[in-house]
Amino acid sequence: MANVENIVPGNADGDFFVDSRCIGCGNCRDLAPANFAKIAPYYAIVKQPDDSDELRQVFEALVCCPVGAVGSKQKHDMKAIVDSYPQEFGGGVYYLGFNSPYSAGGKSYFVKNADGNWMIDSPKFSPRLTKWVEGQGGLRYMFLTHRDDVAEADKYATAFGAKRIIHREELEAQKDSEIVLDGFDTVEPQSGFLIIPTPGHTEGHCMLLYNSKYLFTGDVFTSMLRFGDKLEVWDPYYCWSSWEEQLRSIEKLLRYDFEWTLPSHGRFVHLPAAEMKQALQACIERARDEKEPFVATPERINLFLRMIPALRDAGQPEYAMRMQGRLEEMQRRLAASST
Ligand SMILES: [Fe+2]
Repeated sequence: MANVENIVPGNADGDFFVDSRCIGCGNCRDLAPANFAKIAPYYAIVKQPDDSDELRQVFEALVCCPVGAVGSKQKHDMKAIVDSYPQEFGGGVYYLGFNSPYSAGGKSYFVKNADGNWMIDSPKFSPRLTKWVEGQGGLRYMFLTHRDDVAEADKYATAFGAKRIIHREELEAQKDSEIVLDGFDTVEPQSGFLIIPTPGHTEGHCMLLYNSKYLFTGDVFTSMLRFGDKLEVWDPYYCWSSWEEQLRSIEKLLRYDFEWTLPSHGRFVHLPAAEMKQALQACIERARDEKEPFVATPERINLFLRMIPALRDAGQPEYAMRMQGRLEEMQRRLAASST
């Protein structure tokens, strides 16, 4: 439960607030964009809700905060909001809610399918969600977009006998995954489910396209809206492996039709397929103009520094070591540019 004693700077006066346990994941802003904003390093409620739509969105942000950092001074009955999750977009595709702190608050999804249900990345492992999944007929596959967002996938896989699908380059994060993807060709493991390798954010990052309509995008598209457009790529600072490769991966998406982009960290975007393609094209053109991401700055180095112990704690020492190598390269570049 959020504690009003630990309220962070930047909160607007009123009932709702964010406290210092905030991990800066931005899920509150994704769910209630009119009310939450980043006041680095935290998010804060910069505008109290002033109509019923905003109030519902703020409640959703409160319920879905992975660390319970969003709170209210007054008591509210949240049962209806809690019970509204998982929420269906249509076509048996759901946002599961209950984001996990183990994926820095990443979103996860569920596809109900006659040939076996799929989960995309992992929410908190909870009796409530396992019961819900059970009610849907269980779980056949868990698609893991990349190493950052596996969260508690192993527990869901064990509970339901599900097969985890992950790229070999990401395998360290779930070493005993049942299906390991090699290479970078698109594969269709089940009718209607297309796995599109999209390296760049991490070495083996992959997306999943379902029924040529729903694209589960992992960590590429964001809700930061730096350019105020419909579809935007995360700032290059959040591209861990290769900006150029990520750009090529996004260009590959132009071959496919889809109407929804469903990210791990970011907002849901729903557009007619033709409009989505235009938005994607515009997004690619802007990304081509972005500055070279490996420009070493103290801020970027600090960002990486904070990640390294967390990666080791998360059981990914090899990845932590690669990150360390990148950090040293940045430090060399910084030193060279200042002489
Ligand atoms: Fe990520």
